[in-house]
Amino acid sequence: MKIPYNRIFYSGNETEYITDALTNEQITADGKYTKLVSSFLEDKLGTRKILMTTSCTHALEMACMLIGLKSGDEVIMPSFTFPSTANAVMLNGAKPVFADINENTLNINPLDIEVKITSNTKAIIPVHYGGVGCEMDTIMDIARRNNLYVIEDAAQGINAKYKGKSLGTWGHIGCYSFHGTKNYVSGEGGAIAINVDDKNLIEKAEIIRQKGTNRCEFLKGKVDKYSWVDIGSSYGPSDILMAILYAQIQQLDFIKNKRRVINDFYNENLSKYLKAGLIKSMTNIPKESDSNYHLFYIIFHSEEIRNKVMVKLKEKGISAVPHFVPLHSSSMGKKLRNKVLDLPITENISRCLLRLPMYTGMTEVEMKYVVDSLEEILKEI
Ligand SMILES: Cc1ncc(COP(=O)(O)O)c(C=O)c1O
Repeated sequence: MKIPYNRIFYSGNETEYITDALTNEQITADGKYTKLVSSFLEDKLGTRKILMTTSCTHALEMACMLIGLKSGDEVIMPSFTFPSTANAVMLNGAKPVFADINENTLNINPLDIEVKITSNTKAIIPVHYGGVGCEMDTIMDIARRNNLYVIEDAAQGINAKYKGKSLGTWGHIGCYSFHGTKNYVSGEGGAIAINVDDKNLIEKAEIIRQKGTNRCEFLKGKVDKYSWVDIGSSYGPSDILMAILYAQIQQLDFIKNKRRVINDFYNENLSKYLKAGLIKSMTNIPKESDSNYHLFYIIFHSEEIRNKVMVKLKEKGISAVPHFVPLHSSSMGKKLRNKVLDLPITENISRCLLRLPMYTGMTEVEMKYVVDSLEEILKEI
């Protein structure tokens, strides 16, 4: 049996909506489907404003422009994240400062955020790993006490909550991804949530997203022609992509529930190995978190065992994969620092973590095959 790590799930209406967009010649940004998706997400997530973007990478770039990041500023983030989190900061001339993570959720450790704050710190970017929320109440409190912005990297965090509030809506700004590897996909795509009730910030976001023009004002009939008003770029996705996403979000909770079943199956069947000490830990969802079940991971006692299990699963046709190379130890990260950075939990986790196959359409037979194969390998080792 061949089990990929990820497989895109189609809800069924994608082709119909794409055809509709094509037929109505709505293929540029801000057509019918962009509006449908953004207003649906505003309601569902409970935020002031959602602007759809070409990716989460671009949403993060917009967020850094919006808070006016500049050379000399520092932004605290986990090292255990995707390069986009740091690129957005660096493209705006500022410096990423890496903090360690907690072992229980693999999210940024608020205590280490406090340690890393200097007079140059301008913002914090918490990353919600695997759809399980960071300790946002504590992080927002640190931000308030130190007058910092919070931009949530909720690339993996859509349709999940921490203490009853949607991920991506706690901070000043939140950024989401609809990349083909995520729970809800448009191929490439993202969104920025502006969570503060600030008309000027929203207007600034609209201008940045529309090539530095006031085209949004024009579309709303507020001006009779639009022109260049500030620095901006092109971050609006094609309406064809938003047609795909509209079909996906119509199944928002169906998709989440399907993924919950896979998560629970892995959890129930593998916890005996946790108790027996054969694995060190695995995906943990604290009681204050409502996860979207983006991924399921196992942490082994050593890199050697992790690699052995990964190879043996591959021999059985199962694709299980590691995750982030910590940014501070990547080749780019090494160029950034002038002294050795000690992030022991990040380093250990990245060496010992393995993600099991997880996709919405996964069948019971497939889940069982993964668990049975893993059991066989663990007994052998
Ligand atoms: C934590 C995190 N941030 C940002 C991104 C970038 O998202 P996108 O591919 O939509 O640009 C990803 C993508 O995997 C991610 O995992």
